[in-house]
Amino acid sequence: MLVEAIPCLVTGASEGIGRAVALELARRRCPVALLARRGEMLAGVRGEITAAGGRAEAFVADVADTAALGLAIGQAASWAGGLRLVVVNAGVGVHGSAEILPGDALRRAVDVNLVGALETVRAALPHLRAGAPAALVAVSSLSALIPYRGGGAYAASKAGLIAALRCLRLELAGTGVSVGWLCPGPVDTAMIVDGVPRVKLPRLARLTVPVLAVDRVAREVVRLAAGRGGQRVIPWTAWIFAAVARHFPRLGEWTELATGAGEA
Ligand SMILES: NC(=O)c1ccc[n+]([C@@H]2O[C@H](COP(=O)([O-])OP(=O)(O)OC[C@H]3O[C@@H](n4cnc5c(N)ncnc54)[C@H](OP(=O)(O)O)[C@@H]3O)[C@@H](O)[C@H]2O)c1
Repeated sequence: MLVEAIPCLVTGASEGIGRAVALELARRRCPVALLARRGEMLAGVRGEITAAGGRAEAFVADVADTAALGLAIGQAASWAGGLRLVVVNAGVGVHGSAEILPGDALRRAVDVNLVGALETVRAALPHLRAGAPAALVAVSSLSALIPYRGGGAYAASKAGLIAALRCLRLELAGTGVSVGWLCPGPVDTAMIVDGVPRVKLPRLARLTVPVLAVDRVAREVVRLAAGRGGQRVIPWTAWIFAAVARHFPRLGEWTELATGAGEA
């Protein structure tokens, strides 16, 4: 699918990866519906896009509030003239050992990163089906693919999302709606700045997986949308860690334990 001048929705568009994806899509002449909770931040992104001659509109909603989310996605589709690309990106970093993490933090991770993401998919799908060829791209995480101490709740929410999208990909075969998910290593956003004192990837991974710039991640989202979907892990060094963890899980664990990681 050619990602040029097609109506798009990006969740979590008020900053970080979502903002970068929205700017990239606007550069490609796409009208972009921006969804997040903080209206003033969305207004700033909208201003950046319109100042550069693009089209964008802000839709304020919490993805964990299913009714408000459905309403906002309906309004976004009306504004954009349908939807042909939906980027399911809104997410929260919840980190800490399962031994100490309180239940409400666990629930927050699942409510936003898993249930919120899948409710976004559910509300968006009728529009994507109607607009096919169309694409759904979710931002999961390398955390879903490799074990690390303190990652339990976040990793479970992001791995659950992948499991659900693998099923959806089969269900949507032949409809013209592709389903893809990106698993980036650490990305230079507020999420890791906030999380750095608490989140420690295995030392070897920290040494070999460079922190990605948001623009790089945005271009990968567009590449996934343009292609056939499925899973993409970036950067390539992260792909190696994911492959080891999958095919040689004991080696993956040994690397984590032997090369040392910080406490969660
Ligand atoms: N940064 C990383 O290292 C990294 C690595 C791999 C994957 N990811 C994933 O990439 C995605 C974007 O993260 P980021 O790094 O760009 O983080 P970020 O800078 O903290 O941005 C998160 C975005 O999600 C929105 N959001 C959070 N909770 C929301 C909710 N309940 N309803 C609606 N919007 C919500 C935020 O907007 P409001 O606060 O305005 O609602 C914000 O726009 C997340 O899914 C994250 O898990 C990040």
